[in-house]
Amino acid sequence: MQHVEKRSKVNVANQAIQETYKQLPESYWRPQFHISPPANWMNDPNGFSYYKGEYHLFYQHHPFGVEWGPMHWGHVKSKDLAVWEHLPIALAPSEDYDQDGCFSGSAIEKDGKLYLMYTGNTWTGDNPDEDLYQVQALAVSEDGLDFEKISNNPVISNTPEGDIHPFHFRDPKVWKHEDYYYCVLGSKTKNEKGQILLYRSKDLLDWEFLNIAAKGEGNFGFMWECPDIFRLNGYDFLVMSPQGVHPEGSLYHNLHQAGYVYGKLDYSTGKLDHGSFHLLDYGFDFYAPQTTIDEKGRRIMIAWMAMWESEMPEQDNHWSGAMTVPRELTFDGKQLLTKPVPELSNLRMTCVEFDHEILKERKEWKGVEGDCLELELEVDLKDANVFGIYFRANEEETEQTVLTYHSKEEELVLDRNSSGVGPGGIRKAPVKLKNNKLHLQIFIDRSSVEVFINHGEKVMTGRIYPGENSKGISFFADKELELVSLKKWDLKKGISV
Ligand code: FRU
Repeated sequence: MQHVEKRSKVNVANQAIQETYKQLPESYWRPQFHISPPANWMNDPNGFSYYKGEYHLFYQHHPFGVEWGPMHWGHVKSKDLAVWEHLPIALAPSEDYDQDGCFSGSAIEKDGKLYLMYTGNTWTGDNPDEDLYQVQALAVSEDGLDFEKISNNPVISNTPEGDIHPFHFRDPKVWKHEDYYYCVLGSKTKNEKGQILLYRSKDLLDWEFLNIAAKGEGNFGFMWECPDIFRLNGYDFLVMSPQGVHPEGSLYHNLHQAGYVYGKLDYSTGKLDHGSFHLLDYGFDFYAPQTTIDEKGRRIMIAWMAMWESEMPEQDNHWSGAMTVPRELTFDGKQLLTKPVPELSNLRMTCVEFDHEILKERKEWKGVEGDCLELELEVDLKDANVFGIYFRANEEETEQTVLTYHSKEEELVLDRNSSGVGPGGIRKAPVKLKNNKLHLQIFIDRSSVEVFINHGEKVMTGRIYPGENSKGISFFADKELELVSLKKWDLKKGISV
């Protein structure tokens, strides 16, 4: 009987989503090839995994409202990281230990079963910053569809002794190394500095606290959320989302950041010896990235393509939030490179292509336009100081998003002040050119843009909310330069909701 009641929480949530979805008006801003919830709220990617030949992605989801609320886990899967299918909600708050939310977490396969490790949240008073109790819990599935919370839950009930905040303790990311499972948790010190806790376990059930693997000093935020540790080219990378880093020059202008440090994790002491912090994205909307490794050994990352407290105009259409495209991470010896996964080419339709074109002042190329497309170009700036692209532009030129490279300043600027409705602002990415060549791969969807710069050296991501008629693309320069190559593909729908 009790079991039936618990399952019914998931069923009620699924019904709510289906009902709401049926009544939704057409939403022009609905992404065509990015994951977004069928209806209502989405935030962090969770449980990103490759299981029985398919990629699974779960996400923080509020099925009953367009704002953040009691967290459930939404679920999608894909065979190729390009075309995705919605599945029923996987987790709903149903137990004492997760009564106010199944917060973020990860997935791992063990003995052929898919385990989800997540944070159970309980509010203990009215102040969400202080009055909370968080524990770590497991759910398991034999088919990657139906998940059952285990009876030993919670598997980690209390924070360890030491300079560790007793309640902010969440977002387990679990992996296997030699004979142990390890997990990292987001945490903060008692006086508000972000840090990461490292645990290990033989069986995923009994967890032993090893150490504070890393801790922020200086301008490094008051809390680190959503940690992720993985090994790439002989180094250990810690990806995390620090809250409350202050702006420094053109950096850190979003409310919260997401980036990485790398070095060596000593598994015997539980300490990560690491260098400085690098952003994973220089745009407006990128948070809580999570990675997985697939059967080809690739490290693939997806992030929430939004930002806390940002205006989300799609909420008027009864949905909110989207994920970035899946991005492959590689290491070039100095920094992580972030590239869109090559499978995204499965979405390509017609191609329009130009080579060795001269650009003076401002120019458009026939067929290069749209609101759901991929653009790839290489520019030889020669003596030009400025090269730029207007896109999602209307004919009146009152609405447009602008990307401009300034060679003196060595920076690329994404300007969404005239993008349409929704939040404006500019963001800058430091970009040095080799031989004056700038390579851009740009993914434009109905309400987003992702710019991959110089083969993944930098990325800029932003939500934009232009009108349906804003499909124009034109290029500009302050001096003659060469567009070595320009390709544009219309992209087909990768997910139906
Ligand atoms: C990050 C986060 C996580 C938490 C989740 C709740 O965006 O705050 O730390 O688990 O969202 O939805």
